[in-house]
Amino acid sequence: MCLNSAMTSIKVSFSQTSFQARAEQLAATLGLELSLISSAVDNPNGYYLNLGPQGLSLVPCASKNHGPITCQFDGGANSHRRKFGGGNGQAIAKATGVSGKFKPGILDLTAGMGGDSFILASLGCEVQMLERNAIVFSLLQDGIARAAGSEDSSLQEIIARMALLSGDARTYLQCSMADDYVDVIYMDPMFPERKKSAKVKKEMQAFHQIVGADEDAAELLPLALERAKYRLVIKRSANAGYLADMQPSYSLEGKSTRFDIFALRKLPA
Ligand SMILES: C[S@@+](CC[C@H](N)C(=O)[O-])C[C@H]1O[C@@H](n2cnc3c(N)ncnc32)[C@H](O)[C@@H]1O
Repeated sequence: MCLNSAMTSIKVSFSQTSFQARAEQLAATLGLELSLISSAVDNPNGYYLNLGPQGLSLVPCASKNHGPITCQFDGGANSHRRKFGGGNGQAIAKATGVSGKFKPGILDLTAGMGGDSFILASLGCEVQMLERNAIVFSLLQDGIARAAGSEDSSLQEIIARMALLSGDARTYLQCSMADDYVDVIYMDPMFPERKKSAKVKKEMQAFHQIVGADEDAAELLPLALERAKYRLVIKRSANAGYLADMQPSYSLEGKSTRFDIFALRKLPA
């Protein structure tokens, strides 16, 4: 798993002593310094990781920047989208070929905070997720663990369909067997940063700082095309060019995002 230079200055902290042991373990796993909150916040433009009753959060040291970033499936935007997002009528469902009759197995090469995978799992798909950024992986792993322990049995069923692996998708695809196909491969690499744009949410700016620009995303494309049985779906910013300038079979355009679809075989009826 990778830690870039912006991440090595991040400290791990905890808000109650009951979280200290887990924080120590996380700091050791990530190779980061464990500290009390009072000294974790000493980098005005930076972040710290905090373990507390709300789970694991990435917190800006200067609280005016934005609130803590936590992976949450039992509330917030993910929960709202699961309940009111439009089911199989959503663009992501159409793009991946999800229907009442067909629930493709999905390999999400760029899991991030798991929002897209969660929607696909909530529509009935088994989803395998890959994430290479150590901090993002830890936030997602924590969100999944908390949701798995929820008392909401339908949420538990969705989470049981989500499997998370740490590591680089390129290596994963390169090491998979020649006849190891996945129904649908999905990827959503970081968009190039729109500098000085008020439209880029503060949380997304934080993500850019932690993750970077996924400059190598184009390298995944030929590997994914070899492994996808029915489709490769690439999520892009609405105004971005095609990944690696490769024209897809067709696109589904939304207000701010677009799904480029490489249709490789007819979907099962
Ligand atoms: C824009 S975010 C994905 C957001 C996600 N779709 C969601 O709904 O939360 C892109 C993520 O992909 C990860 N990523 C990019 N390239 C990767 C690769 N080759 N292997 C594994 N993870 C990768 C980045 O670390 C980042 O966390």
